[in-house]
Amino acid sequence: MSAVIQRELDEFLYQQVVRLIRQMQQQQLLRTGERLPSLRQLSSQLGISIPTVRQGYEELERLGLIEARDRSGYYLKVQRQPECRPGRLPLSNTPVPVRQQSLLEQFYQAVHQPGILPLGIAQPSMAQPSEKALLRTMRRVTTLAGQQVMHYGPIDGFAPLKRQLALRYLDVGLSLQPDELLITNGGQEALAIALQAVAKAGDVIAVESPTYFGVLELIETLGMLAVEIPVCPDDGIWLADLEQALGSQPIKACIFSTAISNPMGSFMPDAQRAELVQMLEQRGIPLIEDDVYGELYFGAARGRPAQCFSRKGLVLTCSSFSKTVAPSYRVGWLLPGRYGRQVWRLKRALSFASSLLNQWTLSEFIASGEYDRNLKKLRLALKLNKERMMALVQQHFPAGTRVSNPQGGAVLWIELAKSADCSLLFQQALQHGISIAPGTLFSPSQKFRNCLRLSFGVRWQPEVELAVQQLGQLLRTRC
Ligand SMILES: Cc1ncc(COP(=O)(O)O)c(C=O)c1O
Repeated sequence: MSAVIQRELDEFLYQQVVRLIRQMQQQQLLRTGERLPSLRQLSSQLGISIPTVRQGYEELERLGLIEARDRSGYYLKVQRQPECRPGRLPLSNTPVPVRQQSLLEQFYQAVHQPGILPLGIAQPSMAQPSEKALLRTMRRVTTLAGQQVMHYGPIDGFAPLKRQLALRYLDVGLSLQPDELLITNGGQEALAIALQAVAKAGDVIAVESPTYFGVLELIETLGMLAVEIPVCPDDGIWLADLEQALGSQPIKACIFSTAISNPMGSFMPDAQRAELVQMLEQRGIPLIEDDVYGELYFGAARGRPAQCFSRKGLVLTCSSFSKTVAPSYRVGWLLPGRYGRQVWRLKRALSFASSLLNQWTLSEFIASGEYDRNLKKLRLALKLNKERMMALVQQHFPAGTRVSNPQGGAVLWIELAKSADCSLLFQQALQHGISIAPGTLFSPSQKFRNCLRLSFGVRWQPEVELAVQQLGQLLRTRC
């Protein structure tokens, strides 16, 4: 850094620090998400005192340009344009059958093509892989357990893992016995079992709009209908819209993410979760709570699962280790509320049991403290990736692009001009070796043609930056 402080200027020294950091940002010497020089470094480089540098940084913080992170220093924040969040959708009050198969097939094929940069799929753990520690744990378990891990495990899951999970729920104020919990093959099986426990073919299910396409595929496969409840970019579904839909539609059950929604990334505050549960339980309607992103919050704490507010046992909570540790392990779980009997039976009928080796490994992984250590690092890595990707989208996408500001998780929801065609972008991007998730996947009524979901749950590398730049280029010229 060649800048110098000019003591003769009519400007306080701390203001010169502010100006200097802004210049470094403009000249891209310091980029969004990067750490600023430490107080000590800058003080010695500029020949001014540490308190003066601190005063400059505090001013930058007050201006919303940088943020202090606990015991880590100051970081350059993403600059948001005013009113750049996705807009509010009207409530479309008619249930529709879901027909997503062909686009979903293309989407999954694309994700698994070799050499494709997977910005379409949400695999947050790739941002901070825990594979070494996990492998070590698995080796230990194999030695320890020997033959036992080759056998069928109990239908409801490996008892020590269930105990670990029950203990973790205690931390958020939910007291449950390990027996009240069922281990599943990932969150998807938990959702499938929960849905079949509370509804049947022909029933109307309320879903978020936009919603995770795995939920839509389930509804489609089970011959149910979906009614879409718009999601607010900040705090989950609009409860007033849900209330209106409940008054006019024969809604049999709801599937909502109370924690971090996918794809919007909004975070429902606890008071709203309580209100949601009350609204549904008053009417005797089950809530299937999709909490797979619950641990990946960027705020001060995770919210309390909606399960905590249930009085009648009508909440079924689904979660998994796919987003926090390893999707390939296929280990999730379900808290079935009052539907225990149906849920146990469905698990037995559908898949009998889940992998004992993987459950055992995860149980040891939690017990050793590795899980929490890794979670902490993962949240930080994801938050940093979010800032970087938001900045890139704002820099390279066409003017007027709106971007969500996820409160956790691993995806950005991007809304383009009405004329944009993201299904076309999906095809064009594939030819450039990039997969994205086109917006229509997230709605049973094919809304969101002008939207896309981009994952920042990746190991950050120059290819990612280049890919976002290329997507912007494609949008400007072809889509
Ligand atoms: C919101 C949401 N729920 C559930 C799932 C399924 O999770 P799993 O991979 O554990 O089956 C996913 C996976 O992408 C998801 O995004």
